[in-house]
Parts: sequence; structure tokens; C-alpha cells
Amino acid sequence: MISPLNFLTEEFTKATTEAYPELLEQGTQPLIEIKPATQEHFGHYQCNSAMRLGKILKINPRQVAEAIASYFDKSPTPLIQNLEVAGPGFINITLAPQKVAELVETIIDDPRLGIPDAEKRQKVVIDFSSPNTAKEMHVGHLRSTIIGDAIARLFEFLGHDVLRLNHIGDWGTAFGMLIAYMKKEVPEVLKGNEQTDLSHLVNWYKAAKKQFDADPEFMKASQLEVVELQGGNPESIKAWNIICVISRQAYQEIYDLLDVKLTERGESFYNPYLADVITELEKKGLVTVSEGAKCIFLEGFKNREGAPLPLIIQKSDGGYNYATTDLAAIRNRIFDEKSNHLIYITDAGQCQHFKMIFQAAVKAGWLDLNRVQVEHVPFGLVLGSDGKKFKTRSGETEKLIDLIQNAIEKAKEIIREKNPQYSEEEINDIAKALGIGAIKYADLSTNRTGDYVFSYDKMLKFEGNTAAYLLYSYVRVNGIKRKVGKDIKEIQAHIQLDHPSEMALGVHLLQFNEALDAMARELLPNRLTDYLYGLAEKFHAFFRDCRVEGSEQQDSRLLLCEAVAQTMRAGLELLGVHTVDRM
Ligand code: ARG
Repeated sequence: MISPLNFLTEEFTKATTEAYPELLEQGTQPLIEIKPATQEHFGHYQCNSAMRLGKILKINPRQVAEAIASYFDKSPTPLIQNLEVAGPGFINITLAPQKVAELVETIIDDPRLGIPDAEKRQKVVIDFSSPNTAKEMHVGHLRSTIIGDAIARLFEFLGHDVLRLNHIGDWGTAFGMLIAYMKKEVPEVLKGNEQTDLSHLVNWYKAAKKQFDADPEFMKASQLEVVELQGGNPESIKAWNIICVISRQAYQEIYDLLDVKLTERGESFYNPYLADVITELEKKGLVTVSEGAKCIFLEGFKNREGAPLPLIIQKSDGGYNYATTDLAAIRNRIFDEKSNHLIYITDAGQCQHFKMIFQAAVKAGWLDLNRVQVEHVPFGLVLGSDGKKFKTRSGETEKLIDLIQNAIEKAKEIIREKNPQYSEEEINDIAKALGIGAIKYADLSTNRTGDYVFSYDKMLKFEGNTAAYLLYSYVRVNGIKRKVGKDIKEIQAHIQLDHPSEMALGVHLLQFNEALDAMARELLPNRLTDYLYGLAEKFHAFFRDCRVEGSEQQDSRLLLCEAVAQTMRAGLELLGVHTVDRM
């Protein structure tokens, strides 16, 4: 099913070029732009392009609008009920209930809900979550995980080949320090003879750092350990592996709880390629040595004093860094993974880093922007209710797993209070869906480019644009179906959209495609949350205005409810929010 927006754009373009064939020579900008109507009484969509076209044609825009509209008198299309030229040259478009109803019916029982597969199948690499070994995952990584998972789910749904990569910070000089410390203080752990968890690692890491700064002996031992590790000494590698396993367990617990799938490919994966990356860049004449460090100077990057800011790719001590690894990674993703769409999801603090990496990759001849799309998807900070950077009461950043468990606990209280008759098992299941859904939805529904205020109370509210409201709406739609107790598959009737609330709901259902398009184009999950919130609101208006059970239009309305339920469920799933049947 083609979306009304795309269909109207095509039809209006035809109408325009028929009326004014000379416009065909007008550059590359699309001739026609169609938008959803700004106000309901203007109809469903509007076209404001006559104003721009009038200027090009040197004809009164109103006349242009009339000419476009008159095309549809000659060649009417069943989707358009009425066109109205208004003001200086707006065209207001009202859709035909009959055709809208017909299209809504095609959604039902189509697992793709009428959404076509992407025209060009892309190999999309999405780099997200990406915490650091021997450190706690923090709320920034949580945002990356939630946003990345939603974007990955969308691209998968659209039929692309998606590789979800976890670019874990599992390599670097700091591990020499940690291994040296553990060898000294907890040798049994490094031998794999003693169980431990991430919180111990984090403490040892902190202690190691202190010793490193205070004790020259220890500093030397650490540096030696780095050399051993980078040289591939089996004993050092074994110790490093143990550290990775402990960290991995902690992350995996979070991914399992959130139901997020990732392929781990940490920084260490690229270690064997780093030297070659430098050599290749040197051969291409891109490397300048500055104060002993190997640098790439790129256009448009200045430091605070206004001097050119280089991208350092090898430190003066010979060590490689975050940027070297990202250069190796982008080369790998383009040439080995054969990706033509690269997406990186991190906090906005890394914008400059990625701009530099992308530019360097272009200069190196690896990244052809005509063939490969690259996008850094930045997001803002997580704030506490006090508007300050998110922290727990003790001042320590709260552990992620506790944060998620807390949301589930709070959801449990709410569900138990609402439904004291539910079994403990049922309460647990619903609370898990609600608690996790609430955390994800709260994040996804805020425009990611801004900061986001983390508040259990707000995210678990049953009113407003929240997971709780949407999950509840979904339960309500299904409740109606259950109450009537009719098998949807047995229904012979067709959908009729007689009441304005029914028509508004029907048109909104057809716009699911448009919401997904917008989210894929802008990589903004809030395009989809806004859509779903709108769907729930329109459903509630319909339910307020139109009786379902026992009414003359009962069967038609049941079908409409079914289309709503399926769309809500599919939309929430794309956000990683799982629905429940009762609440
Ligand atoms: N580990 C990094 C951090 O915690 C994020 C890595 C993002 N991905 C990348 N390819 N640089 O900030």
C-alpha cells in the first residue's frame, strides 16, 4: 500500500507537469510538496507548492493552484473526495472515506501492515550501546542502547540487512594497569580460580589508577604489562580475557532484561589493523608529525585559540588511540562488511570526533559519500528531576541494572494497586513490560537531540505521551474486541467510516507508513512515538463518539479496532516496547 502522502505527491506532480510542462526543466528540487493538514477543518492534507511555482512561472499562484486542482476534475482519483483552493493558493485535500476504508482493510492480517519493503536494500551497520570494559555502563550507554535498538528494529522491519555492533571499549593502555594491579592483589581471580563481578573490577580499576599515579614502581610494571598485552603474550591475553568476561556478564544481564540483541565487536577487534591504517594514511600523504604525534589536519577544525586542530592518530609514545580504532573500524565496515549505510549512536559530546573521522575517511578515499551514507546520531544528557546531570541520592551514578529494576518495582506497585485480583506471576509479567517499556518510551519520545529528564513518576503516568498510556490503550482496544467476542476472521462486513472520528482514525492508520519514513529519514524515534500517541488519542475519541458493541456498525467498527490494535502493537514493537493483554 502506498501511503496517502506519497500517492498524493505523485498525483499532484503529474497534475502540475501536465498543466505546466515547462516546469519539467526545473532543476532537481521536487515540484510538489504535500503535508498533513495543519487544522482538521482544512481537510486531511494540503499542498502549498503553488506559491513557489507561481514565482517560477510568473503566474498568479492562485491560478496555478486552480490549474493543478482542475486536473482532478478530468482525471478523478478515488482517494480524493474534494479539493479546495484557498487563500493565495493553498490546496486543501479531503480524502474519500470509501477509499480510506478500503485501504484500512488491507492492513488487517498483513504482517507488514501494508508497509512495502524498502526499494533499495541496504547493508546498515549500527554502532550502538558500546560501553567500556571494567567500567559500569552508565545512563548515556542506556540511551544509546535504547535509541540504537529502535533504529535497528525499524531498518530490519523495512527489509534492510542490519548489523548491530557493540563497539566496546575493551582495549588500551588502561588494561595494563588493571592487569598489573590484579596480578599483585587478586592473582587468583586472574587465573580464573575465583569468581567476581563487575563492581569489584571497577574498584580495582580505581585503586590501580591511584597506585599508578603514586607509585613509580607500579607505573613501570603497568607499562610493561601494556607491552606484553599488545605483544600478544598468552598469559596477559588470558588475564585480559577474564576481565572481558566479567564485564560482559554485567552488560549481558542488561541487554537480556531490555531484550536488545547486539554483536560484540570491541576495539580489540581492530588492533591487528591499526599499524596498517597508519601506513596507508601515510602513503596517501595525509599524515603530519606534530610534537612527535602523527596527525591528520582536516578543514574546518580549530582549537580554542583558533589554531588548526589535528586528528591525532598515533601518540608520540607510539600508542594508538580511539580515533585510530575508529578509522580502522570505518574502513572495515565499508570494505569488509560492504556496508552502504553507517550509523553511530553516541552522546552529542562526540560530534566533533565523528565529523573528523568521516572527513578523514573521505580524504583517505575509503568513504565515497555518493555510495555510502554515514550518520552520527547524537543525543543529549540524562538529567535528574532537579535538572542536573542524573545521579542517585548518594551522589554516585546509579547502577543501570538497579535503575531498570526500580522501574519494574514501581510498576509492580501500580499494577497491584489497580488490579489486586491478579496473580503474583501476572503482576510480575505486566510490571516488567510496563517498567521497561516506560524507560524506553520516555527516552524515545523526547527528541533525542535535547537533554532528557529521567523521572519514574512521569514515565509511569497513565495520562499523556507515555508507555503506560499507550499500553493501556492497546489493552482497551483488545478489551472491546474481547467483550463483543466475535472472531474477526468471520466478519463479512466492510469498514465504513461514517462518523468524523472514525474517518480521522482511518486516515491516521494509513499514516503509519509516513511515520516510519520520517523516523528512518531523520533517525528520530520520536516521530514514531508522536504517531502512536496520536493514534491512541484518535482511538479514544472514536471510542467516545461511536458505540461498538451492539451498534448497527458493530462489525465495521470491530475491524477498525483490529487495525488499530495491530498498528499499535507493531509500532510499539519497533520501539522495543512489548505489549500486554491485560493491565
Ligand atoms: N565506548 C565509547 C564510549 O563509551 C563509545 C563508542 C562509540 N562507537 C565508536 N565507534 N566510537 O563513549
